[in-house]
Formats: sequence, structure tokens, C-alpha cells
Amino acid sequence: MTSAYNQARPVISSTGLFTPADSISNEELVASFNAYVAQHNAQHAAAIEAGEMAALQPSSVEFIEKASGIKARKVLSKASILDVDVMCPRFEERPNDQISVLAEIGVAAARDALQRAGRDAKDVDAVLVACSNLQRAYPAIAIEVQDALGIEGFGFDMNVACSSATFGIQTAADFIRAGNARSVLVVSPEICSGHLNWRDRDSHFIFGDVATAVLVEAADFAPPSHWDILGTQLKTRFSNNIRNNFGFLNRTAPESRDSADKLFVQEGRKVFKEVVPMVGDLITDHIARLGIAPEGLRRLWLHQANAGMNRLIAQRVLGHEASEDESPTVLDSYANTSSAGSIIAFHLNSEDLKPGDTGIICSFGAGYSAGSVVIRKAA
Ligand code: COA
Repeated sequence: MTSAYNQARPVISSTGLFTPADSISNEELVASFNAYVAQHNAQHAAAIEAGEMAALQPSSVEFIEKASGIKARKVLSKASILDVDVMCPRFEERPNDQISVLAEIGVAAARDALQRAGRDAKDVDAVLVACSNLQRAYPAIAIEVQDALGIEGFGFDMNVACSSATFGIQTAADFIRAGNARSVLVVSPEICSGHLNWRDRDSHFIFGDVATAVLVEAADFAPPSHWDILGTQLKTRFSNNIRNNFGFLNRTAPESRDSADKLFVQEGRKVFKEVVPMVGDLITDHIARLGIAPEGLRRLWLHQANAGMNRLIAQRVLGHEASEDESPTVLDSYANTSSAGSIIAFHLNSEDLKPGDTGIICSFGAGYSAGSVVIRKAA
């Protein structure tokens, strides 16, 4: 097969962000959760009293902030999440001739990235929708985004959970290196709220909704103000410690549809212990292979799952406690947004860097999976 373009050096031309208008504070979230707990315990008072059922325990604002660094999360369906009788997002079903919700927020982020690069959609060759929480089996959400933007070429969906965006960036970079594309949009729309068990005290505070986009292009085609991609590295290792069993095979067992493991579940402590060294080693190996010393990293844009985890990873890599300037977090207002988190951190905290500054975008999560992208500001 012949390539469409000459083999080229991949760069990041721009990023884009869509942020839902509504936000839920920890106070609002905990008030709703604790009202549910009170209602549940009152309804089952006799069984609890008889020792046949354990009483549910209330959540707390202080615990959430201390354990995770999260103060609020953006969501697309606030009222129904906080409604004690619903406690999940509710979207009106859309007919097939209307754009789906996931594609719609992806398009909003993609338009932002295109506009920042001064790029006309007709010059984009491919769209990758790389995210954890795909809305349907097919047609691919990426093809719907491609159609909405009027892009020729091709699109497909890929899912590597929270690492999807960095895996998407490497895939796009490889298309450019091989000459199969000159301009690729990597879009990560995440409606995490749909897969979160809002009635589970251990995890009800973790996730939020958002969409990001990264425009990966050939250096000779990109705008002058871009980021050179110095290298990409991916790693996966199987683990059940973060898992979501929702899928089309559940149709055969409708009675189990609402069971908790058809939503996000995790062994948070194990994830913390096992993923920190895996990611620390990945970054350390990657920069060593590129001949970059830890002091040569101006900034780390890490996956946004837990502030403590990020502190430890940054410390392992840099050899000292990282400042907010060295390793910025967006967890306080966005919470964990799965694959979009490290891209939001980059999008909101990169304008001040100077030509020649080097940084690393690194994501990690279920699989386990981890991906790193080392970049340098060109101009
Ligand atoms: N409110 C109040 N207390 C709570 C609570 C809540 N919402 N949830 C749990 N607790 C309590 C527990 O009952 C436990 O009490 P005990 O010590 O009396 O048994 C205590 O707080 C500690 O619980 P634990 O679940 O061990 O907390 P933690 O410090 O490990 O923090 C996570 C939990 C999930 C925030 C943390 O483990 C984490 O972020 N891990 C990494 C997760 C991650 O990156 N996942 C990737 C997803 S993509």
C-alpha cells in the first residue's frame, strides 16, 4: 500500500477543551449521598436492627478532599445525579438522525483545537475517538465526529481506559511517521458520570464529565507555534483492580444489569500502591532513553485521579516534591475525567512555557495501562 504523504515528524499543533456548564461541589454531593443513606437506613430499619443488614455509612466532604484532592466535578446532568431517587445521569434518548451526546461534546472540543491551530477541518485526515466511556457499540463515535466536522478520510474508536488519550497520540504520531496522515484529531469525550456508582461511598466522588481534543500533525504542515513530540511510550499489564463489566453480553442477564460491577469498581488502595511505581518507572525509563535528565523536565502533566498519587509519581521522577508549577493538578475543579485528565492539565497549564522547554504528558489507569508523551515547545 502506498502512503498518502511523505513520512514526517509528528508534533502537537493544539489542544481543545469542552467543559460542562454545571458543577457539583463536595458539599452538594455529600448532602445528596447522605440523604440517600438516611432514606435507605430508615426503609430497612427493622432488618438493620435485627442484624440482617448492615447500615449504610454516611460520606464526608473532609474525607473526599483529603483522600483525593477533589473539591468539585463538572457534569452534564446535575439534577438527576443529585436526585436521591435517581442518582445517575439521565439523558433524553436522541433519534438516530441527531448527533449523539458523546459525539456532540467531542465535536465541541475538536472545534476548539482546530480553531486554536487555525486549521480548516477539510485538511484533517483522520479522527480517533480515544476514551473510556463509549456510548454505543457502533457506528464508531469517531465517524460521527468526522461527519459533523466535515472531515474526509477515516475515523475509529479506541479504548484503553484512562490511558486512551496518550495511546491515541502515539497512534496518530505513527500515522504521521508512516506517511498515512498529515493531520489527525485525537478526541477524548468522557461522560464518566454514566459509569459511576453514585450510591457507592468508596467511589461516588471520583469522576466528572468533560471532552478534550489534541491535534497531531506533521511538523512541516503544523502552525509555527507547536510542540515537538520527542517520543512516546506505552505499557499495559493486566489487572482486575479497576474494572467495569458493563457490555452487550449483559443483555442475556437483565436481572443483573443494575448490579454494582456493571459500573466502575476499584480496589483503590491496591491501584495506588501498584500504579505509582509502574508509572514512575515508565517515565524514568522513557526520559533516559531520550537522553533527558529529570532536571530537564520543565513540567509533568499527569493523569488526574488522585492528588496523593501524582505527588508520589512526580517525586519519584524528579527526586524532590513537585510544586504545583512543576506538576499542576486540575482535580480540585474537574475531579477524575479518565483519559481527558492529563490533556486538561496540559491545555490549562502550558501557555507560559518557553521555546525549548520540555515536558511530559502521562496517563495511567485501568488495564493497567500507562502512556507517556515527551514534548518540547518549538516556538
Ligand atoms: N466518606 C468518608 N469516609 C470514607 C469514604 C467516604 N466517602 N469512603 C471511604 N471512607 C472510609 C473507609 O470506610 C475507611 O475507613 P476505615 O479506615 O475506618 O476502614 C477509610 O475511609 C479509608 O478508606 P480507603 O478506601 O482505604 O481510602 P483511601 O485513603 O485509599 O482513599 C481512594 C480512597 C479511592 C480515594 C484512593 O485509594 C485512590 O484514589 N486510589 C487510586 C485510585 C485511582 O487512581 N483509580 C484510578 C481510577 S481511573
